[in-house]
Amino acid sequence: MPKLTVNGVENEVDSGQRLVLAIEGTGVNIGHRCGGNAKCTTCRVTISEGEPDTMTEAEHAVLSEKGLVGEVRLSCQIICDHDMSVEPGFLLENEEEWTDTGPPPETSITPDPVWIDKP
Ligand code: FES
Repeated sequence: MPKLTVNGVENEVDSGQRLVLAIEGTGVNIGHRCGGNAKCTTCRVTISEGEPDTMTEAEHAVLSEKGLVGEVRLSCQIICDHDMSVEPGFLLENEEEWTDTGPPPETSITPDPVWIDKP
């Protein structure tokens, strides 16, 4: 089982989950306002340990558009299959305009992932 450290709190999580769902499963109210489709970037995380060397084309496209390449990663576009330490960027309790974290992401990565090397 991979170790997932969220805001300094260590958890063991099931391997193969989308990172956004693994984070949510630890009880952290991370945003996923587009339902995990690489559109909104509210599932963004900074990764201090275990950043994957690959990313989906969809993640790269939206991070490029928003000038965030090299700054954050999208937890809806990452599979939790190794140890990582992350800090979510948007939490429900910090966003006054949100009434929830967003539509539930599917269990597998959407849109269908096309993997590229991390720039
Ligand atoms: S980009 Fe919207 S949930 Fe990941």
